[in-house]
Amino acid sequence: MLKFNNGKFKILLFGDIHESGDFETSPKFRDMQKLMIKALDGYQPDICVLLGDNCETPVLKNNPEHFKKMLSAVTEPITKRNIPAYCIMGNHEHDPGIDEEVLEAYQSIDGVVMRNDHPQDGKYCDYVDQVYSSDGKTPLVNLWFIDSNNLCSDRSLSTYDYVHDCQIKWFEDKSDELKSPNCCALPSYIFQHIPVPEEYKLLRKAKLFEIPKCVRGFDSKRNKLYVLGDNAEGYLGEGPCSPDINNGQFASWKKVGNVVAAFFGHDHLNDFSGWYDGVFMAQHKTAGFRAYTDGCQSCVRLVTIYEDRPTHFKQELKHFKEFGLVSESLGPVFKRITDRQSLLIHLGLKALGSAAGLAGAVAAVKYVKNTRNK
Ligand SMILES: [Fe+2]
Ligand SMILES: [Fe+2]
Repeated sequence: MLKFNNGKFKILLFGDIHESGDFETSPKFRDMQKLMIKALDGYQPDICVLLGDNCETPVLKNNPEHFKKMLSAVTEPITKRNIPAYCIMGNHEHDPGIDEEVLEAYQSIDGVVMRNDHPQDGKYCDYVDQVYSSDGKTPLVNLWFIDSNNLCSDRSLSTYDYVHDCQIKWFEDKSDELKSPNCCALPSYIFQHIPVPEEYKLLRKAKLFEIPKCVRGFDSKRNKLYVLGDNAEGYLGEGPCSPDINNGQFASWKKVGNVVAAFFGHDHLNDFSGWYDGVFMAQHKTAGFRAYTDGCQSCVRLVTIYEDRPTHFKQELKHFKEFGLVSESLGPVFKRITDRQSLLIHLGLKALGSAAGLAGAVAAVKYVKNTRNK
């Protein structure tokens, strides 16, 4: 049973670790573990949440035992401290199309939590746990772990999928079942991989002079440039990759009521957060050093909920660099750069690459022409 402890319940978030099969010898794995251990010892959370895209699932298809070994190694700093490691499915957990095997693998590791609470609807890994008062008598908070699926079946409509109708119905029915004795929905906190489209409500279109710090939108918004809106703070490093189809998940939160906050992964560079229509939405960047990252800006986020007012919480972000950690997997430049610099360097390298490619192509054409002339 999850309970408040000294009036608080502390949740530590790790986004998009993307651990890979070579973890046993990889300095990237060691860097991620250093961040995890430092954060666990510093914050001493009640639970941890891994926000999806946790471990590369093709490894599971090729070598199930090695996948379990990797998952066990990734979560070991958490589980060996007797802290439950709550995990959700990211899009990449769905990639090999073996969702049942993925769920089984997660459930085979002691201390790791992942479930499907409505198997009658299919293979969705949606589940809910409640946090009880310190005396263990009264449930005070619902924690929802939602499976945001993979790619959209019709890619012409949206790159990424959305939370399906039966999942929304399950959320509404279950919320009703878990109502408090005075018939109010309990304060709810949502953990989900792919953000809802409403995340764009935390952004606004960039003005001309803001172009150096703007990002390009995603999918149908790709021709628009954005910066953070006045209702948000934090770091915007890329256009949020939410689905282009709005299936009414946010509207369902408003209908049920008392959804306090939602925390998302998926966008490795973004860590901004803010309020929209009474719901706090937070984008959590990667805690790993795999896939595309932000150098030493990989970070964790601590969410503390208060027992005397469970609709009240605070969040704290701490980056790898801020823990005073030194990376062994990053090169000398990436060890020092900040988020925005890392993005600009990334774009600069791309531009340089394109320029070099173009120069090469021009030189090749000239060479061919000259050879022909001879
Ligand atoms: Fe990811
Ligand atoms: Fe993802």
